[in-house]
Amino acid sequence: MANIKPKFWKPGTEAPGVGLKEERSQPTEGTEGSGSCVVYNPYVSLSIEQQRQRLPVFKHRNHILYLLEKYQTVVIVGETGSGKTTQIPQYLLESGWAAHGHVVGITQPRRVAAVTVAQRVAEEKGAIIGHEVGYAIRFEDCTDPESTKVKFMTDGYLVREMMSDPLLSKYSVIMLDEAHERTLYTDIVVGLLKKIQRKRPQLKIIVASATLDAEAFRDFFNQNDSRDNSLDTAAILTVEGRTFPVDVFYALSPVPDYLKETVETIMKIHKTQPAGDILAFVTGQDEVEQILRLVIEQIRNLAPNKYMKMLALPMYGGLPARDQMKVFERVGKNTRKVVIATNIAETSITISGIVYVIDSGFVKIRAYSAQTGIEGLVITPVSQASAEQRAGRAGRVRSGKAYRLYTEEDFHKLPKSTVPEMQRSNLSTVILQLKCLGIDNVLRFNFLSPPTSKAMIRGLELLYALGALDNNAKLTQPMGVRMAEFPLDPLFAKMLLMSGEFGCSEEVLSIAALLQVQNIFLTPSNQKIAAERAKRKFAVTEGDHLTMLNVYEAFIKYGKNSKWCHENFLNYKGLTRALTIREQLKRLLRKFKVKLESSEGDPDVVCRCIVSGFFANAARLHPSGSYRTIRDNHELHIHPTSVLYTEKPPQWVVFHEVLQTSKDYMRDITVVEPEWLYELAPHYYQFGTDMEISAKRAKAD
Ligand code: CDP
Ligand code: MG
Repeated sequence: MANIKPKFWKPGTEAPGVGLKEERSQPTEGTEGSGSCVVYNPYVSLSIEQQRQRLPVFKHRNHILYLLEKYQTVVIVGETGSGKTTQIPQYLLESGWAAHGHVVGITQPRRVAAVTVAQRVAEEKGAIIGHEVGYAIRFEDCTDPESTKVKFMTDGYLVREMMSDPLLSKYSVIMLDEAHERTLYTDIVVGLLKKIQRKRPQLKIIVASATLDAEAFRDFFNQNDSRDNSLDTAAILTVEGRTFPVDVFYALSPVPDYLKETVETIMKIHKTQPAGDILAFVTGQDEVEQILRLVIEQIRNLAPNKYMKMLALPMYGGLPARDQMKVFERVGKNTRKVVIATNIAETSITISGIVYVIDSGFVKIRAYSAQTGIEGLVITPVSQASAEQRAGRAGRVRSGKAYRLYTEEDFHKLPKSTVPEMQRSNLSTVILQLKCLGIDNVLRFNFLSPPTSKAMIRGLELLYALGALDNNAKLTQPMGVRMAEFPLDPLFAKMLLMSGEFGCSEEVLSIAALLQVQNIFLTPSNQKIAAERAKRKFAVTEGDHLTMLNVYEAFIKYGKNSKWCHENFLNYKGLTRALTIREQLKRLLRKFKVKLESSEGDPDVVCRCIVSGFFANAARLHPSGSYRTIRDNHELHIHPTSVLYTEKPPQWVVFHEVLQTSKDYMRDITVVEPEWLYELAPHYYQFGTDMEISAKRAKAD
């Protein structure tokens, strides 16, 4: 069976694990390239061999192999479901690219995808996963160094692998999959691979994308500076899915409420247009559910027998797989299917039968402000490329129609393409990892889309304040190097590495582990009050971190019992997962010789230790009743789920993260003394720059 063991990242040393950070920051539903989604297989009744031959890439098999011989880099464009991910690695295997101990590596932006496609490929080959075909993600290495020839992994994992094998010498081909998503790590891998390819020209790179933005990738990898195309080192191959023309209609005047307009457009299509299914794009789960309710209400009011029947279905990342599957099911001849979806239906899945598309013109994405240092989810207008991609979904079975709920004039004002994550993320982790890979001048790194210098500087500044970089912006020894090895945000890494000095590593380990999993507290909608009461049993005035610690300790005390969790509205699975993560983190602390001891119930040292990592996330109460960040005076609020959401809000706090919805909410908050900030982060809160800290000190004296 699957051989699961920790991954060794440097010979003889212990595994740091990979991308643990993803656990909680899993793309939230409704963000680009969102959550997990099911895979629909229309040919499931055929033999595996017949299924493979039906896929659009099959016709291009020989051409792909030819291009790979001729060029160093091949960009392959083909729509979702055409067979890129599952077939190309097998073609490479069949034609000898994994001979002589070489490995074909395929990167995925998401861990779930890495596991499921590896399983699918193993199944197609009639093999057991973890042998010839394997996968490696975070703390799970399901490969065998002797026999694995095709290895699926997250792109973050590949970056870590470069730390021990900078030239990726065991790989003959790296396939960078789902490149159109342009995630933070996709972009980093792209830059690093280009560097490697210069030193190792025999390393072949395949970039696989589901959208047509292939030129940027080809031009980036093409090392031919002359005008003579015959000297190109990179080429594009397009696997054409059959597509039909799509007529685009615009709103004649700006739409004040796109949710209402979506519902109206759905009903108008239903009443006036011939048979054909409808796909509507909105930004998130809430909107999907809201529109669904309104449409169902309208369906009830339809005059019977006058129109065809109508079946409305939701589709978003957080929807249980069983319900996701429903959008693929066939409906009767006299029924029209309406799918209301988030961006997940733009590229991640393909629903057949869609003839009408409604595009709200908006999308929910992760965003970062270098001004305030705050990262969160925001709703923004789509890009032109996105709008085209959405419209294209209507032309898969016959010619279709796309209704854009914005004016043509506004369409032309939209950005050409979606801003890559690299340009809307907090960069401290990226900078730290690049530095660890020996890229000292990160500002000069060959980025496919360079981030703003402001974001870079903010990242560097934070790393400096954390003690990871010295005055010359070099990684410090041992702190900076160790922080880079930690598979967590630098803020967590710092807190954990400092915990020995504060004498509370046992407590801080538990807190750090719990913060990696989502929703420790459960609140079923029909038992809100009981759940709230249960939570209050663990609550303490120090805040959410120590409340979580109480939960953890009680969980251990009650024998890690699932029944006990159930009675107390606690997430048993999440807590169990936290135990595993805690073990991994503890091993790392041991490796770095951090003293492992408990504070024996002293809350102050634990809170101070949290501040030593999270001082940058500090805020104080403002007379208005909201909070302001200390560095940037940015307005924040206590999230209603916090135990500190009370009538008497504390003066000074540090928080784990910000959730942007109607307001910017702080989540996971601990009460602090202002002196701690000054004392533990003198670089960050310079003497005299914060009058109130000094004032408070004076008063205390
Ligand atoms: O990568 P791309 O979207 O081009 O296609 P793929 O992931 O290779 O999938 C090709 C086909 O394999 C799908 O259309 C499904 O029919 C099938 N498949 C499956 O049945 N189960 C999976 N886990 C993955 C793919
Ligand atoms: Mg794919």
